[in-house]
Amino acid sequence: MYVMGIETTCDETACSIVENGKQILSNVISSQVELHSEFGGVVPELACRKHVEWILPVIDQALDEASLSLAEIDLIAVAKGPGLIGPLLVGIHVAKALSLAIEKPFIGVNHIEAHLYAAYMSHVKAVNFPAIGVVISGGHTSIVRMDAIGEYNLLGQTVDDAIGEAFDKVAKMLGEGYPGGPCIERLAQEGDPLAYPFRGGQVKGHPLDFSFSGLKTALLYAIQRHLEQTPGQLSFQTKTNLAASFQRAAVEDLLKKVLLAAEQNHCHTLLFGGGVTNNFYLRQRFQQELPHFKQLWPAPFLTLDNGAMIAGLGYHQFLHQKKGDSFEMAPLHRMGFYPS
Ligand code: KG4
Ligand code: ZN
Repeated sequence: MYVMGIETTCDETACSIVENGKQILSNVISSQVELHSEFGGVVPELACRKHVEWILPVIDQALDEASLSLAEIDLIAVAKGPGLIGPLLVGIHVAKALSLAIEKPFIGVNHIEAHLYAAYMSHVKAVNFPAIGVVISGGHTSIVRMDAIGEYNLLGQTVDDAIGEAFDKVAKMLGEGYPGGPCIERLAQEGDPLAYPFRGGQVKGHPLDFSFSGLKTALLYAIQRHLEQTPGQLSFQTKTNLAASFQRAAVEDLLKKVLLAAEQNHCHTLLFGGGVTNNFYLRQRFQQELPHFKQLWPAPFLTLDNGAMIAGLGYHQFLHQKKGDSFEMAPLHRMGFYPS
C-alpha cells in the first residue's frame, strides 16, 4: 500500500511516500527556519503563506523521487493536529482535494503520536509493548505508556513550556538565534554543566509532569546578576556555563522522570520522538544511565517534522479503522493522545 504523508503543522512543508507503513520511498522537507529566524520564532501568518507556496512543489518532488504517479497512491495521510491552525488548514485542504481528485481515502493523523512512530519506523526489529514513549519537541513534552501503535496512556506532560521551547527561550535570553536547541548544545560543549545549581521543576502531586518555567527564571536571575556585576554583555565563558548548566538540568529532569515512568509501568523499551532527540548530550546521558533499557531513537532524518512519520502512522490507523476520514475532519490546535 502506497501512502502519501503530508505535514504542515508548523514551519516545515513536508511530503513523503511510504510503502506498507515502513519503507520510505521519498521524504521531502522544505524548512522555513531561515524565514522565521529573523523574528526569533515562528510567525503563523508567514508560515501559512509559505505552506501555500510550497505544498504542491513538495508533493510533486515526493512523487518524482518515489517514481510514482498520483494515481498510484492508495491513501493520503495528513497531520490534523496539534499545531498552528492556519498551517494545518493548508495541508488538510490539499489532502482532501487530492483525495477527491484521485478517489482515494484520506486520514487525519496526530502529529505527536507520529513523532513516536518515527522511532518505530527507524528500527527493523519489532518493539516489545508495553513501551514508554517520550515526546520531546518544540511544542510537546510528554511521557506515555504505549500498549501498541495507536494505544497510549498519558503518564506525564509539561504544565508550561515544552522542553524544546525552553531551549529556544533560553537561547534567546543568551542572545543566540532560532532554533535555540542546536545553539545551546553547541555552547554547552564548551561550558561547565555544574557551574550553576539549576534544577528541573517538580509538579506537586504529579511526579511525572514537567515544568520548565522555574528553570528559565533561575537562568534569567543568573544573567541579571552577571550584568549587574559586569554591565554590557555576558562573557563567552559565562554563556557556555549557563548553557551547559541549563542543558544538564533539563536532561537530568527528563532522565529521572522517564526512569520512574518505566519502573512504575514495568517497561523495558523506550521510544523517543521530536526535535530535541537531536541533542547528542541527551542521547548520551540516556545511554549511560539506562543501558539496560532497549532505546529506540529516530533516525536523524526523522527527528524533526516530516511526512514519513505521518504516512507510516496513517497506514496503521487506516488498517485499524478500516476506512478513511470524512470531509468534516477539521484541524485541531490541541490534541491529546488516543487512550488505550
Ligand atoms: O519536533 P520539532 O520540529 O517541534 C515540534 O513539532 O514542536 O522540534 C523542534 C524543536 C525546537 O524547539 C528546537 O530547538 C529543538 O527541537 N531542537 C533541539 C536540538 N535540535 C532541535 N533541542 C535541543 N538540542 C538540539 N540539538
Ligand atoms: Zn513536531
